[in-house]
Amino acid sequence: MQANSWISIQTPLPGPKAQSVLEQDHRFVSPSYSRPYPMVAKEGQGMVVTDVDGNRFLDFSAGIAVCATGHCHPQIVKVIQEQAAQLIHMSGTDFYYPQLSALAQKLTEITPGKSDKKVYFGNSGTEAIEAAIKLARYATGRDKFIAFYNAFHGRTCGSLSLTASKPVQRKGFGPLLEGVFHVPYPYCYRCPDREAPGTCNPSCTQFIEDVLFKTLLNPMEVAGIVFEPIQGEGGYIVPPQEFFSRLEQISRKYGILLIADEVQSGMGRTGKMFAVEHFGCEPDIIAIAKGIASGLPLGAIVASSKIMSWGYGAHASTFGGNPLSCVAALETIRLVEEGLIQNAKAVGDYLLELLWSLSEQHPAIGDIRGLGLMIGVELVKDRKTKEKAIDWRDAVLQQAFQNGLLLLGCGENTVRFMPPLIVTKEQAEIAVEIFSEVLKEIGH
Ligand SMILES: Cc1ncc(COP(=O)(O)O)c(C=O)c1O
Repeated sequence: MQANSWISIQTPLPGPKAQSVLEQDHRFVSPSYSRPYPMVAKEGQGMVVTDVDGNRFLDFSAGIAVCATGHCHPQIVKVIQEQAAQLIHMSGTDFYYPQLSALAQKLTEITPGKSDKKVYFGNSGTEAIEAAIKLARYATGRDKFIAFYNAFHGRTCGSLSLTASKPVQRKGFGPLLEGVFHVPYPYCYRCPDREAPGTCNPSCTQFIEDVLFKTLLNPMEVAGIVFEPIQGEGGYIVPPQEFFSRLEQISRKYGILLIADEVQSGMGRTGKMFAVEHFGCEPDIIAIAKGIASGLPLGAIVASSKIMSWGYGAHASTFGGNPLSCVAALETIRLVEEGLIQNAKAVGDYLLELLWSLSEQHPAIGDIRGLGLMIGVELVKDRKTKEKAIDWRDAVLQQAFQNGLLLLGCGENTVRFMPPLIVTKEQAEIAVEIFSEVLKEIGH
């Protein structure tokens, strides 16, 4: 591997201090968290996370697509520190403060669509989706929803009813919301009709009208179609243009609200502020979280003023849109607009190129897909049969950690590359080099 100043592994992993945190954590923390390897973070600066034993890692996980501006960006730290010294909390539910309204205005300006819009604030992705569910029901007077297989929208009971990602996420928690219907998402690499992407007559996009509306569901009962413009946890799956055109047609025809979950794909990650912009799609409600505030908790939904017309007291949250998160978000948006979007596109395209050239040496690479810095590499045991290499993918994550690269998985057998948007081409080269070494080390 090229010598580099970002990675330095000095102890066996996990190191001694990490081990004592792990012991404490295993004793006192909920066992429901799904940590793939024992990374115990102490400090983050830019693209580098240092663990409690002083080992340095190159971060291609961005704290699950959250640290858009990198770890502890000096400008973000500055606005948080200044705000913390002035006002930490007042509750936007019962009081006013300028940071909340300023961020709301900014979000209406950067989201697609020219109509007058309004913004609701929560603290997380799942809260944004809960708010979208309630708003869609309120605005339409209907109660049913359509969502997609492989979707991940969160883990509270409303959003979990839309999530169809892994059985373990639902087992034991029912009954969930009634009236949620799941339909196939266009997963072209594993097209059930075995069509070649781009040449198909995408039957998956017609399933809603041709099958669901003819067999189970009256479209006039549907409040919303909830979709990820690129499926995140489901495997970084990028649908074709037809998917978006079809959803817009269905929504217009039956008065169904289109609800885009941009929690993972938004805030510049794909090389546009929101992933729907790549497809000319204008959702009725857009859900945002993760990268919006560079690591402080914040979720939001944005909708036209006509749709967001619920009354006094209809929905609120004590902490939603706290002043610290709002100033961090305003600064994040400034940094994203002033260069990070372009960087996400430039380095993302380069990363894709590097990965494609790597695929010649590694038959385990079945598919590479993504936009900007939302890139998935699907591992297979055989390119013809496309048998999923689930154990190899898990081994890659472990071994990459040992080699100083933080990666996460998505879907059953996909490795995701989702670095902070400040990543450089040189860092992309290093990540790909380590990925290649790791594939060799595990024998593929
Ligand atoms: C697309 C999408 N929606 C919603 C969520 C839930 O967000 P949170 O974990 O902040 O509740 C996630 C989290 O991964 C996500 O990827």
